[in-house]
Amino acid sequence: MRRLVAGTGWKMNNGIADSIRYAEELKARIASLDTSAIDIYVLPPFTSLAAAAQALAGSPVAVGGQNMHWEDAGSWTGEISAPMLLEAGCRYVELAHSERLRHFGETYELVRRKVDKAMSAGLTPIVCLGESAREKAEGRAGQVLAEQVLTSLGGQPDERVPEIILAYEPRWAIGAAEAASPAYIGERHRALRAVLRQRCGAGIAERTRIIYGGSVTPENARAILDIEDVDGLFVGRAAWRAEGFARIVERVADAAKMKTEDK
Ligand code: PGA
Repeated sequence: MRRLVAGTGWKMNNGIADSIRYAEELKARIASLDTSAIDIYVLPPFTSLAAAAQALAGSPVAVGGQNMHWEDAGSWTGEISAPMLLEAGCRYVELAHSERLRHFGETYELVRRKVDKAMSAGLTPIVCLGESAREKAEGRAGQVLAEQVLTSLGGQPDERVPEIILAYEPRWAIGAAEAASPAYIGERHRALRAVLRQRCGAGIAERTRIIYGGSVTPENARAILDIEDVDGLFVGRAAWRAEGFARIVERVADAAKMKTEDK
């Protein structure tokens, strides 16, 4: 069975002091929940990573970076490497967020190199995948997502693929008024798992987590988690405050419990 995931990316929010406050409040709010069956992460901005990791040490909440360079060190002004993330206390790294692709010219070819580095460094990559509104309207979502995932996985050996978290985040649903509909999310997650099955075989596809992001809230979390191929939630705005993320974590922990009871 796949462990469900509750994650949030803070984007360019929460400096050091706010990150520590967030961490303390989150710990207190989730202390009474049984989170043993789920994976929880927060992705603070770079300058807050070490402080957040320290404040969350010993808690069920792990910390990750929002981006990373594919080299360990060198003349790459403004960049951050895998060893630096590890030293700051990170266990995860988000790659290919649509804002990185859109505003900073990243490509999936670069993402593939970053996935390789994260895997060899021992960071869990969270690889974002998503079609634009136009690609959706043109009926090309399936093809675009397949290309994105296959490029990102590159030459990764099949048996390591389940260590990667795939995050389906339709670009038109990020920062939007509403999430994608459950029916549409179900369709896309099913198709992504079929791509994995073709590339790596049924067993690997069954073990690989595909989480959903894009206008998730505590209110719609339940309906999205009920979708068969959805293995967790990746949240922006609704989790920029500890109270909101704690409610998301609670929904994911509940869903994990129900899935265990169903088995
Ligand atoms: P949102 O952001 O939840 O604010 O839509 C999601 C994301 O960018 O991952």
